[in-house]
Amino acid sequence: MRQSNIRPFGAMPDGAPVEEITLAGAGITAAIITYGGAVRSLTVPDRTGAPTDVVLGFDTLEDYRVQDKYIGAIVGRCANRIAGGRFSLNGREYPLFVNNGPNHLHGGQVGFDRQVWTVEELRENEAVLRLVSPDGQEGYPGRLEVRVTYTLEEKSLSIFYEARSDADTVCSLTNHSYFNLSGQGRGDVLDHRIQLCAQYYTPADRQSIPTGQLAPVEGTPMDLRQPVQIGARIGGDFPQLLWAGGYDHNWAVDGQPGQLRPAGRAAAPDTGIAMEVETTMPGIQFYTGNFLAGCPAGKGGARYENRSGFALETQFYPDAVHHPGFPSPVLRAGERYAHRTVYRFGLD
Ligand code: GAL
Repeated sequence: MRQSNIRPFGAMPDGAPVEEITLAGAGITAAIITYGGAVRSLTVPDRTGAPTDVVLGFDTLEDYRVQDKYIGAIVGRCANRIAGGRFSLNGREYPLFVNNGPNHLHGGQVGFDRQVWTVEELRENEAVLRLVSPDGQEGYPGRLEVRVTYTLEEKSLSIFYEARSDADTVCSLTNHSYFNLSGQGRGDVLDHRIQLCAQYYTPADRQSIPTGQLAPVEGTPMDLRQPVQIGARIGGDFPQLLWAGGYDHNWAVDGQPGQLRPAGRAAAPDTGIAMEVETTMPGIQFYTGNFLAGCPAGKGGARYENRSGFALETQFYPDAVHHPGFPSPVLRAGERYAHRTVYRFGLD
């Protein structure tokens, strides 16, 4: 399969080639690299019609390999944290790689964000990437076959995640794009407005591990049901925000998991670019780049600091494998995992 919309993007230390795909849809273009299956750019028109790249990314593979912020990447086998870096399933204990204090984060040391995906299908507006995660990788049971389909349609990016395992395992896949709707590299996102379709969130301890509660957002700064400026309450004295250094929490998306439904919306005042997120997943992590500083220079020499971008990561709730009250991230042998998240762009 040789097409005009795929080009070399470097090579891994073992020589494995990494490629970049460019996709075009109506009013939107994207670049996806096979390293981590990462979205490297996503360009939509601002209110004057000027093409604006709204995601953070890097110019070289080396920069992607050096950074540890999961920029643009597909995250798996299990997004977010697993407390104590272990879980038990069917009466057996599975120790995982511990990479975040005492906990496991975003699939471990060499998660799906650090592996090279294979391009299985390619069209002008669509790419199907595939990854096989062997039994035991990072400690997880079962050989997991994953397919991620990126599709550009009318000013939208749809990400369809499919997976199947040959043994019972845990699976929660997300994309870790950092958005800046003013344009990547153009300062922080504190003036953006954010809205989340969630009556409940999952309060967490100082290590960002959920307590297991589903707490009403009502009467707290976690109430984002009406649009709120990201900067308005981020520095307040609400313990959840203090402990995480800003927003870095999971909200329980209203409505029925499994059904594609609105999860959130963000908009930038200067460009007028608005983004709506829809998902079939139970939860969404709203993360304001609290630990973003310290990466290499971004695209075109952009400087990325804390709050230079925000992420909206659709997922099972963090540490769900330890909380019987949360929707279960367990994927049974032979069962099909299928979830979709759509990022839809427009003008405010
Ligand atoms: C987010 C997570 C943050 C941080 C970040 C990576 O998904 O919620 O706590 O770990 O990834 O730097």
